[in-house]
Amino acid sequence: MQLAPATITRLVAKARQARTHAYAPYSGFAVGAAVLTADGRIFSGCNVENASFGLTICAERNAVAAAVCSGQRPVAVAVVTKEGGVPPCGACRQVLAEFSPGMPVILAAAEGDGVELCTLGELLPALFRLPEP
Ligand code: THU
Repeated sequence: MQLAPATITRLVAKARQARTHAYAPYSGFAVGAAVLTADGRIFSGCNVENASFGLTICAERNAVAAAVCSGQRPVAVAVVTKEGGVPPCGACRQVLAEFSPGMPVILAAAEGDGVELCTLGELLPALFRLPEP
């Protein structure tokens, strides 16, 4: 799937906006994510940490959940961190792959121009799938 430059710009802007709402008092590492859906809409998420550390939810999974709750499916994702270039964690890769294993992944910084582009297939070449019955 080829993303138009304007779509990349929109996704990064939404992920940056979501990042400003990150709740990360324990790690201090704010993450914003935005997913594009087939109808051209964008859903965003930020990381939400918890005093019980294992309950923390990543920005990417919150963005996916927002899309799915609106009846949509993610087809591309942007991830924004302060310095940029941080790919989704393994758990988020698996969750994103549920919907589109080859989706474009945009990695961007909180400020400035320039993004890194890769695909989920490159990040997670061997996703877990249930065997066919
Ligand atoms: N985090 C994300 O939001 N996405 C990732 O893909 C990796 C990590 C968050 C979780 C936690 O709040 C903080 O970054 C440090 O791990």
